[in-house]
Order: sequence, then C-alpha cells, then structure tokens
Amino acid sequence: MFAAPGVTLRGDIMKTTKNRRWAVGITGAVLAAWHILCIPAHTAPVGHTQFKPGEIWTDTRGTPINAHGGGILYYDKVYYWYGEVKTGKTWLPECNRSWNGTRVETVGISCYSSGDLYNWKYEGNVLPAVQDDPGHELHKSKVLERPKVLYNAAARRFVMWMHVDSQDYSLAHAGVATSSSPTGPFQYLGSFRPNGAMSRDMTVFMDEDGKAYLFHASENNATMHICLLTADYLKPTERFVRVFEGRSMEAPAVFKHQGRYYLMASGCTGWAPNEARSAVAESIWGPWKELGNPCRGPQAESTFRGQSTYILPVADRSSTFILMSDRWIQNDLPDSRYLWLPITLTDKGFQVHWQTTWRLNN
Ligand code: GAL
Repeated sequence: MFAAPGVTLRGDIMKTTKNRRWAVGITGAVLAAWHILCIPAHTAPVGHTQFKPGEIWTDTRGTPINAHGGGILYYDKVYYWYGEVKTGKTWLPECNRSWNGTRVETVGISCYSSGDLYNWKYEGNVLPAVQDDPGHELHKSKVLERPKVLYNAAARRFVMWMHVDSQDYSLAHAGVATSSSPTGPFQYLGSFRPNGAMSRDMTVFMDEDGKAYLFHASENNATMHICLLTADYLKPTERFVRVFEGRSMEAPAVFKHQGRYYLMASGCTGWAPNEARSAVAESIWGPWKELGNPCRGPQAESTFRGQSTYILPVADRSSTFILMSDRWIQNDLPDSRYLWLPITLTDKGFQVHWQTTWRLNN
C-alpha cells in the first residue's frame, strides 16, 4: 500500500496557527493532486458535451456503453436507449462459417437513459437471456438482436420488438416483450413469423396518428416487408406490403419529415460494412423510391464502416434527426462502436456527412 505524500508533510510544518492554515492548504492541494493521479479513469464520472463517432462512449459510471443494434424511445422528456449487450468472447460457430457469422453468447437487452443525448445512465439489463433452458427462445445460445421500443399510450405499456433467432439464423422470427416501465423488466411474450413471413433485421416505426409498423427483412433477406401492427402494438395485422423486392436490404431505419417517409438501410453482408441505401415514400405503403447512398465524406462507400440501426427525431425540433449506426468489430463484437451522425435534409431526400466530433446546435 502507498501512503499519500501529504501525511509526512503535515507533521513537519504544523507549528503555528499561521503555518497550520498554510499546511492545511498545501496538504489539501497535494492530496487533491494525488487523488486525481491515482483514480483509475474508468471510475471517474464523465460529462460528455459532444458526439465522437467511432470512439469509446462511456456512460455516467465511466463504463463503455453496451447497447448495439439499438433504438431510442423518447418518453416523458427522457430518452431511453435499448440495445444488444455484447460481452465476452467472440467465436465463429461451425453452422455460420460459410458467411463468417461470428457471435457472442446472448446476454440480454440493456437500457440507458438520458436527458441530453450525450450522457447516458445505465438502467440495467431489461430483458436478460435465459441461462438454464436451452429450448427457450431467449437462451444464451440463441440470437437476440435489434431491439426497438414503442410506448402504447392507450394501454400504458412499453412494447419491445426484436429479432429472435436460432444460432444459425434459420428461425427468422420477430419477438415481442412488454413492460409497465421504460426501464423494465420486460416480460417476453414470444416470437413468430409475421403473416408466416421470415423476419430478421427489423425496426418499428410509430406514425403521427399512433399507428405502428414493423419493417423487416423477409424472404431470406431478399425483400423487405412493412406490416401494420395491431392497435396494442403486440401483434402484426394481416395488412402488409413487400418492398425493395430482391434488393436484399437489412438494418432498416425510418423517419418522417414534412409528411414524407424516409428509410435508410444496408446491403446484406453480415457484420462486414457495405454501401448504404436510402429511399423516400409519400405513403408508408409505397411506392418507395430508392435515392442511393446518402453518406458523404471519407469511407462513405462503406457507411463509414458502419451499419444503420435507428434514426432518432430529436425532441422539440422539427427538422433534427440523428442517424445511429454500429461499427461492428467482427472478431471482437464487444468492441463494436457507435456512429451517431446528423441527418442533413435536402430537397429530394437526406444525406449523412461524416463528422469527427459534433454537437447539436443550441
Ligand atoms: C447483419 C445484421 C446484424 C447481425 C449480423 C450477423 O447483417 O444486420 O444485425 O444479424 O448480420 O452477422
């Protein structure tokens, strides 16, 4: 054990009252400096004032945020960020070798809260994986990805949709869980193929009229489906459309601005990045018109080495949207990073310009 240097200093100087005050001052300063030098960085609370895409992003405890493939719910003036917990060893299961589908053991869905979007408080694992029942859909050996949460005002319930799959991704189900609180715990209700159609990468979108839709990569990822959910958001209705037929789009993220619907998505190359797609529609049912790669700047052709997961409408601003993406590290998935970048609205659609650091305008 080390002794703090101020301890011996104090014994030498404490002779007069004047000296004592001086000694207290010096001792305090030395102890403060010692304290700063000796506290490990990860325990110091951090106050972030800007976004730094691709850098490690710590929560209010100083721990890296662990919420991948995530989405945001804004409720009662607080943002809640839900995402996949990725921790432990990354390995390549034999069944996924042909497409390099590495994985980590499934841990659950994390939740963080924030008032300013820069600083996030960890709220816990709100849908933990099941440890001891290998037959359970949420068993740690299975796939649990891309959670998105909506608030159903009529039922006063928080509804989580997610991609639930077997280790080899052959199940291709959408899963649903609910909670009476945004910070969980969420109760798992089960999973299914909406209208019998495969469902892998997905997102949910709530329109201004309160209707909610599931966007999901279907037909073995070749074609996307958009499906109206029931009024309680717990199930798909029979009303759905097939869009971007044969275009193999994944990682859908949707937003609405001035009556138009916009979508960003990736191509279909697993964890490896590819060129993003974008599209616009006057009605959510289409027709959807593709607008090409919205990214601009270095590595725009690989979505800045990222993949979309959600587009966040910033509260109380009519034209401010943030693209949330994941920069997956295929051979060390827990080290995957977040790329949050501002959406630039244009006459025809939108763009995403690379920024090394940035903040929201006041
Ligand atoms: C990506 C997909 C991710 C994950 C990954 C597995 O294409 O967007 O959510 O499923 O494949 O390799």
